[in-house]
Order: sequence, then C-alpha cells, then structure tokens
Amino acid sequence: MERTYIMVKPDGVERGLVGEIIKRFEQKGYKLQALQLIHPTKELLEQHYSDLSSKPFFPELIKYMQTGPVVAMVWAGKSVVKAGRTLLGATNPLESAPGTIRGDFCIDVGANLCHGSDAVESAEKEIALWFPKGVGN
Ligand code: PPS
Repeated sequence: MERTYIMVKPDGVERGLVGEIIKRFEQKGYKLQALQLIHPTKELLEQHYSDLSSKPFFPELIKYMQTGPVVAMVWAGKSVVKAGRTLLGATNPLESAPGTIRGDFCIDVGANLCHGSDAVESAEKEIALWFPKGVGN
C-alpha cells in the first residue's frame, strides 16, 4: 500500500486546522496509519529540508517550523502521494485552487499550513525520519 508523509505545520496547529486537514484525507478515503504531535529540533528540520539548504528562504523556513508543535502523520492508500499533494494544493497559497486546503485557508507561502511528500521515495525517507521507531498498524 502506498504511503505518504503529511505534516500540519505550526501555523496549522495554532489555527486549529488539524481536524479539518484530517477530515479531508479521511473523506477522500485514505487511512491514517500514524500520528504524533512533535516539537521538532533544528537538526530534525534541517534533515527534513536538506534539499532546500541552499535556498535563500531556508533559515526562515527552519525558524518558522520551530515556532510551535507540528502534527506528523502517515497516510496510506491508492496513489496517496500525488492525491495528497492535490488535497493540499499548490505550495504557494496564492496559486492554490479553491477547494484545496491551502486554497481555502491561507495566503502566505511562508505559512502554508501543511507539508506533503513529493514522491514515493521521499515519502518513505520522511516517514523513516519522523517515525524512527516505525509505524505500528
Ligand atoms: S523550491 O524553491 O521550488 O524548491 O521550493 P518549493 O518546492 O516551492 O517549496 C519547498 C518548501 O519550501 C517552502 N517555501 C518557503 N518557506 C518559507 N519562505 C518562503 N519564501 C518559501 N518558499 C517555499 C515551501 O512551503 C515548501 O515547504 P514544504 O514543507 O515542502 O511544503
């Protein structure tokens, strides 16, 4: 079964949107396999976003991700990586379609509520990073 890593970022937790984001994945038909509220360390975030380390916004991104807890989740089901990104909407909320999570609830790329893995391989890497003890089911 395909799996993806979905994370509600600090702004999503602060704004009370965890339930709304979970609801959208559940109503689409995906299965929640793991969920944890985590206060991520700088080191964990730098590893998660290592591909972006040369980007000018990298320090700001790492700082923002430490402003509060995140909700780390594993979702499973048919084509969940691609469909999960569709449910989240485009990375820049000003380009996210209405009906998507970002399209409906935010306007700032620096506070875009949620993260979703961009490929099956990166999903498995991210799941191993955020759930090092494995995903019980
Ligand atoms: S890029 O430049 O195309 O590689 O980046 P992109 O795929 O658009 O975004 C990757 C993640 O970086 C976040 N991002 C930002 N954070 C803070 N400030 C700015 N300006 C910014 N631009 C992009 C973006 O939300 C993506 O985060 P994740 O968690 O992967 O969705």
